[in-house]
Amino acid sequence: MTSAVSAVVAEFERVFRRVPAGVWAAPGRVNLIGEHTDYNDGFVLPLALPQQVLVAAGRAAVGRSTVRSMQPGASVSFAAATVEPGEVDGWAAYAAGVFWALRSAGHVIPDLDMMLDGNVPLGAGLSSSAAVECAVASAVECAVAVALCDLSGLRPDATTVALHAKRAENEFVGAPTGVMDQMACMYGRAGHLVFLDTRSLAVEHVPFDLSGHGLSLLVIDTRAPHALVDGQYAERRKSCDAAARMLGVTALRDVALDGLERALALLPDDPLRRRVRHVVTENARVLDVVDLLRAGGADPRKIGPALTASHGSLRDDFEVTVAELDVAVEGALAAGAHGARMTGGGFGGCVIALVERPAVEAVAHAVARSGAPR
Ligand code: GLA
Repeated sequence: MTSAVSAVVAEFERVFRRVPAGVWAAPGRVNLIGEHTDYNDGFVLPLALPQQVLVAAGRAAVGRSTVRSMQPGASVSFAAATVEPGEVDGWAAYAAGVFWALRSAGHVIPDLDMMLDGNVPLGAGLSSSAAVECAVASAVECAVAVALCDLSGLRPDATTVALHAKRAENEFVGAPTGVMDQMACMYGRAGHLVFLDTRSLAVEHVPFDLSGHGLSLLVIDTRAPHALVDGQYAERRKSCDAAARMLGVTALRDVALDGLERALALLPDDPLRRRVRHVVTENARVLDVVDLLRAGGADPRKIGPALTASHGSLRDDFEVTVAELDVAVEGALAAGAHGARMTGGGFGGCVIALVERPAVEAVAHAVARSGAPR
């Protein structure tokens, strides 16, 4: 047993006064490229982080589920048979939402006692950084979903688990996100990217051997607040759906790069044209990056310009960056990063930078000096 697993087991035993039935884990994620494409039936290329969420769980003795975290924070309880959206909030909603999603899909599920831990902050830490909340939310959902399925005798495949977790996030937590995060959690594999077609849900593991090439992917949390993030995210989704309707396609994924100018000419205003241009060019960038990396022995440095172009498109066309993200990207590039971009939903949160291994500290300090704390 690793020390993290022993610690969560020991805490479960201390609090619930018996041994757990098991410990389940899911990783946090970061998206390499393919931003705001998942709800347009497009392509994404996330990877699992080494940081994980662990859940030690066992059937509850009483007819109520209890979820606690090893970080300071309250114990939250709810009944698996009746819990409804609006009843649980904060980080525990990601766990409770999974019970609701499985039950409302027609499954008979037991109540559980759960102790959550992770080397990504949970509980009190969760609300201190919205970026961390995003990275952790899907890991909580997926770890709890896998535990609950196992303890209910259900054997869904990984995609079905991801879809239950996504429903928990959309309909229980109330965040209208795509499926990227949950699929990244379920399919993430060391040394690989998860190349996901969000329409067919086909997954291909693309080798991504950074250390073998002397490289690192730096993840920088700007700690910029996600003010209005929910409303803005939902607003971008609505614009994309409206544009698809006007263009007579099922989703913006169906607009080809070589048909982009024709499509833009059909749209009524400049902001809408720019939203569409981002989605169409971003899908093309994902495919380019996958092509570059698929070639055996390809040098990952070659993908740098696509990462930086993605940021420019998110800043100028999709308009989801904030000054902190732009400054962090510029700081990383000025300090020698091969490419850098915001990652995730935007309006704050994290930046990634592809850097030479020996330059990691220098780039991190340059970014910190440029005004964006690590
Ligand atoms: C958030 C959502 C994802 C995705 C990204 C933007 O992280 O959870 O589904 O839409 O934003 O790419």
